[in-house]
Amino acid sequence: MKNIFDIKNKVIVVTGATGVLAGAAAKYLASQGANVVFLGRREEKLQEAVAAAKKSGSDAMYCVCDVLDKSSLEKANEAILAKYGRIDVLINGAGGNMPGATITPDKTFFDLDFAQWQAVLSLNLGGTVLPTLVFGKSFERQKKGVVINFSSMSSTQALTRVMGYSNAKAGVDNLTRWLAVEFAKKFGSGVRVNALAPGFFISDQNRALLTNPDGSYTERGNDVIKKTPFGKFGVAEDLFGTIHFLASDASAFLTGTVIPVDGGFSCFSGV
Ligand SMILES: NC(=O)c1ccc[n+]([C@@H]2O[C@H](COP(=O)([O-])OP(=O)(O)OC[C@H]3O[C@@H](n4cnc5c(N)ncnc54)[C@H](O)[C@@H]3O)[C@@H](O)[C@H]2O)c1
Repeated sequence: MKNIFDIKNKVIVVTGATGVLAGAAAKYLASQGANVVFLGRREEKLQEAVAAAKKSGSDAMYCVCDVLDKSSLEKANEAILAKYGRIDVLINGAGGNMPGATITPDKTFFDLDFAQWQAVLSLNLGGTVLPTLVFGKSFERQKKGVVINFSSMSSTQALTRVMGYSNAKAGVDNLTRWLAVEFAKKFGSGVRVNALAPGFFISDQNRALLTNPDGSYTERGNDVIKKTPFGKFGVAEDLFGTIHFLASDASAFLTGTVIPVDGGFSCFSGV
């Protein structure tokens, strides 16, 4: 019987590929035989990531580009198509937060830095739309392809502090459903769009908010753990199975979904 989870030789383009979560996922996919294209802004980090991926036998490559700079994405697209001739999967992993788009406990909504709010919206939502506009053209042509977006626990419940980020990730959820319908209706059932919503994973962006220098949890860290039935933070490996599933034919009838990978955070009332 055919292995429906087989991703060998699939061309998988990953933005934010030197980051904690998408970076680890990109290396995992390479270890499973995919031809992974690492996209990021810093060449040195990309070179390291590709060298690691090649050790597992993957025919990986990298392109330096910014998810908000269309011409850099177009150049990357040309290089990818010149090497592989097609793209099978796009993982929109680039994203993040900015201090001015956050309302800390000593501030109120009226202290919001509107320019930073716009910048966070632009990075998380625009930075998902623009790569899909460029790399998704292959899916239109092939009538086959997969988009995997990164949502967050903040997209459906009000998570204190992170206002701009929450607004943007709610947009990513909506975009996931909207594009799923648009692509299915115009290009057929071979083109799918889904997202995963990671729970709380320690990364460079939230480490100081969730943990103290001695590794113990901050008050917010403890609050998160209390609302997570598994009683722990996620580690990047926890995302691999869901990403692999979404990238493979095993999820062939799945589109427009946002899958929580959260140790139960989203299903628990907290009481
Ligand atoms: N860590 C968590 O708990 C968590 C939870 C839910 C969702 N997420 C989402 O998962 C994704 C990965 O996050 P992470 O935790 O690995 O963070 P990370 O900061 O390690 O990775 C994000 C990557 O995006 C890159 N990036 C930022 N702006 C960019 C730009 N303009 N162009 C190109 N690349 C750019 C960064 O350089 C970084 O490599 C993000 O979308 C994030 O919002 C993270």
